[in-house]
Amino acid sequence: MEQELVNVVIDGRPVRVPAGTTVLEAARQVGVDIPTFCNHPKLTPIGACRMCLVEVEKMRGLQTACTTQVREGMVVLVNSPAAREAREWALRFLLTHHPLDCPVCDKGGECSLQDQTVAHGPAESWFIEPKRHKKKAYPLSPFIILDQERCVLCRRCIRFCEEYSDHRQLGLFERGRETFLDVFPGIPFTSKFSGNTVDLCPVGALTSRVFRFQARVWELAEVPGVCNYCGVGCNIAWGVKNNRVRRIVPREHAAVNDQWLCDKGRFAHAFLHDARRLRTPLVRRNGKLEEATWEEALAQVAERLVAIVQEHGPQAVAGLGSTRTTNEASYLFQRFLRAVVGTNNVAHLGRLPQGAVLLEDIPSLAQADLVVLAGVDPSEELPLLDLWIKRGVLRRGAKVLALHPQRVELSRYNGLRLAYRPGAEAALAGALTKALLESGKARKVAHSEAVEEGLRGSSLAQLAEAAGVAPAQVREAAALLASAGKAVLLTGEGWVATPYGQDALQALANLARLAGAEGPFYLAPDNNTVGATDVGLVPDRFPGGQPLDDRRVQDRLSKWWGVRKLNAAPGLAAQDLWPALAEGRVKALYVLGADPADESALAAQALEQAEFLVVQDLFLTETAKRAHVVLPAAGPAAEEGTYTNLEGRVQHLGAILRPLGASRPDWWIVQEVARACLAALGPGAGRDAAAWQFKGPGEVFAEMAKAIPAYAGMHYVALGSYGLRRQAEGGLLPLARVAPSWLQPTEDYPFVLWVGRVLYDRGTLASCCAPLQELVPEAALGVHPEDAAPLGLRDGTPARVRSQVGEMVLPVRLDPDLPRGVVVAVRNLGEVSLGTILRPGERATLVQVQKA
Ligand code: SF4
Ligand code: SF4
Ligand code: FES
Repeated sequence: MEQELVNVVIDGRPVRVPAGTTVLEAARQVGVDIPTFCNHPKLTPIGACRMCLVEVEKMRGLQTACTTQVREGMVVLVNSPAAREAREWALRFLLTHHPLDCPVCDKGGECSLQDQTVAHGPAESWFIEPKRHKKKAYPLSPFIILDQERCVLCRRCIRFCEEYSDHRQLGLFERGRETFLDVFPGIPFTSKFSGNTVDLCPVGALTSRVFRFQARVWELAEVPGVCNYCGVGCNIAWGVKNNRVRRIVPREHAAVNDQWLCDKGRFAHAFLHDARRLRTPLVRRNGKLEEATWEEALAQVAERLVAIVQEHGPQAVAGLGSTRTTNEASYLFQRFLRAVVGTNNVAHLGRLPQGAVLLEDIPSLAQADLVVLAGVDPSEELPLLDLWIKRGVLRRGAKVLALHPQRVELSRYNGLRLAYRPGAEAALAGALTKALLESGKARKVAHSEAVEEGLRGSSLAQLAEAAGVAPAQVREAAALLASAGKAVLLTGEGWVATPYGQDALQALANLARLAGAEGPFYLAPDNNTVGATDVGLVPDRFPGGQPLDDRRVQDRLSKWWGVRKLNAAPGLAAQDLWPALAEGRVKALYVLGADPADESALAAQALEQAEFLVVQDLFLTETAKRAHVVLPAAGPAAEEGTYTNLEGRVQHLGAILRPLGASRPDWWIVQEVARACLAALGPGAGRDAAAWQFKGPGEVFAEMAKAIPAYAGMHYVALGSYGLRRQAEGGLLPLARVAPSWLQPTEDYPFVLWVGRVLYDRGTLASCCAPLQELVPEAALGVHPEDAAPLGLRDGTPARVRSQVGEMVLPVRLDPDLPRGVVVAVRNLGEVSLGTILRPGERATLVQVQKA
C-alpha cells in the first residue's frame, strides 16, 4: 500500500513527508534543529521535557515537536520568538536545581544539557536560592552509578528498560519538584543491558563505574572494533587514552546490534591491561618457565618441532586453534601446519556441527511469530539476540517455545517450555515431529516418508518419556509450531554437544521442515566460531570446507602456500588428539588461544605426555602452565584483523593499543614460527620461504579471499566499518531418517549432568573485570528437590558428582524447574573447573551424585 505523503512548511522550508511523521523528524529532514532531552529516535516519544516546543499555525499554545504529528498544510515555526523563549525557559527550569558539577561529571563534553544551554539557553543564571539536594554518587549496581541531582527526569533509561530489555527495575518516585529516579525498592538494577542507559541518559545522571574519572571524553581516541566475547559480534568503539582502553561504547549497526551492547561486552575490558597478561616469551629451563627473548623462544620452537618432524614424521605434530583469535591468525596457523609441518592435524574445540546453517538475518528475529529455542539460551549466551527476540515479543506479541532443561529468561513470555532431559534431544525433536504428523498438521514435503519411517519404531509416548517430558506438552508444543505464521528455530552448542548431537540436529531439521518453520539456525557461541571453521582449523577440510583430496584445490593452495605438495590424509579431530598424545602418536602440540587443560582433565593429563608443547595466548592459562615455550599474544585492540560472526558477517577490527611488553599480534607470531621452522628445515625441504612474507593482516586477508570460496570478492578495505556477509554455504539439512537414540542413565550413573553457560562467569577474560565478578553466581549443582530428598541433599549440602572422567564436589541448589533425573552445573563459575568431570567440548554426560 502506498504511504500517504503530506506537505508541511517548517521555518519557511517546504517538505513532503509520510503522514504520521512527527514535527521533530520532519524538521530534521530539512535541516532545522529542534533541541530535545526526553526524545530519542529509538524510544517511544513521551513529550515530557518540553524542550522541543514549537509554534504551529492554527494551533493554540506551543506544541511538543516530538509528539505532534504533521498534517497536510501544517506550518511550523521552530525559531519564532515565542518558541525560542519557551525553550530558554525550559532550560532555565532544568538548570535551577541542576548541580552544575560539569568539572567532575563524566558526561562533560557529550552532555545534552551543556550543548543545549550553549545553543538555546540563557546566558546567565538568575537563580540564587539554595539548590534542592538529592542522592549523589549512588551506586545502583557494580556497573552503574546514579546522581539524582543531575537527572532531568526524561525517562529515557526507564523506557529502554521497558521497551527493549524488559527489565523493569528503574522508576520515577514522588511528584513535582521532589521527583527522583531510583531502582524499585528491593529490586536491584541487575539488567544485563544496564550500560545502555548510560548512553541514553542525556546528562551525567547515570554514568559508568568502570569509566568513572578515567578520562574526559574529548581526550579519548576512538577506534572501531568488534566485541571479542560472543558470536553476535557487536560493533564497538574502543575509547583510548595513554595507550589504555578507558571505555567501550557501541557503534550503531542496524543489522547486528542496533545501537546496544550487553554489559559484558561493554564493561569487561580490563583484561586488555591486566597485570597477569603475558608480556614476554617464556621457555622452560630446568623445569621452570622463564623469561626469554623472541629469538630464543622462536629458535627453540623451530628446533624442537623440526626435530620431531624429522624423527617421527609430520603426523607427530598437531595444532589446536581457537574460536576467539582473528581469521588471519587462524588461517596462517592452519597454513603453517599444512604447508610447513605437512600435517592436517589441525583442529579447534567448539567446531560448528556438520550441516549447521547460520542465521540469515539478525533483525528478522523481531519479525517471528514464534521463536523456538532448542537447547540455547540467547539471554546468557548471545545477549543481543535476546533484545531482538524481545522486540518481537513486546511489540508484536511473538511467542517463545523454549526447549531447554533450565528455565531461561525468554521462557517467561507467552508460549511454552519443555524441560527435556539432555542427551535426548533427538528423541524430543522426534516426539514433536510425531505429534505434528499425528495431528495432520505436518507439511507435505518431498521425502517426508524417510522421517516417518525413522520414527515408526517408537510411539510418541516412548519418545516423550525418553526426553523426560509429558506427551500432552509435546502435543501442545507441536500445535504451537503448526499454528505460527513465521516460526524460527534457533539452536546451539547445548543441543549438539552431546554424544548424539548430529542426530539431534538432523531431527530438529526434520521437525523444522515438516512444521514449515525457518531454520534450525545454529547460533555459534564465540566471537569467531564461524571464522575458525571457515579458515580451515579443521582436520578433514581445507579452508572454506574444500576437500583435502581435490587436485585443483591442492594445486592452487600449494602454490600460494609455498609447498610442492600438500598432505591429503585427514588429520586428527579435536577429540582424537588426547588419546593420540597420551599414547605418544602425537609428540608435539602447538596451541593457539585455547585452553584445553581447563576444559577437561583428560586433556590436561594428555598434555603432560607431550614431548613438546607450545602455547600462544594472552595469559598463563592452565594449558600454558604445562608448555615448554609460551608465546605472548597482543590480543584485541592491539591486533588488527577480522572476525566472522554468527550470521557469517566478516567484520574488521582496528588496532589502537601498542602491544603490552614484548607481546605480538597472533598472525605475526605464527608467521615468525613458520619462518623459523623453514630456516631450520633448510632449503632442500620443498618449502618456499617467500610464501611467508606477509606485511600485515590485510595481505593475509587478500589470500584468504582467494582461498575461501565464500569469501571470494571480499577486500579488506571494503569491509569498512560494518563488515560484509560472506556467501552462505550449503543449505538446510535435507530431510533424513533419524532413529532417535539417547543418553541412557545406568545404575552406576543414574543422572544426566547438563552444563549450562551464563554471561557473567569466571572465564579467563571476564575474571579480570572486578565489577563483573561481583555479579557471578555461586558455583552449584542444580538438583530437582524430589531427586535431592532421597539422597539426603538440601540447599547448600555439598554433593559429590562423579562421571566416568573424574569427580568433584559442588554445593547443591534445589531447582524445581529442572526435569527429574537431570542435574545442572554452570561452567566457569567455581575454583575447580568442570573439566574435572567432562570430556573436552562436552555439555551433557552421565553422572552419579552423592552427599559428600
Ligand atoms: S537518569 Fe538520565 S535517562 Fe534516566 S530519567 Fe534521569 S536524566 Fe533521564
Ligand atoms: S552481545 Fe555478545 S557481542 Fe554483543 S556486546 Fe554482548 S558479548 Fe559482546
Ligand atoms: S523532547 Fe519533546 S518533550 Fe522532550
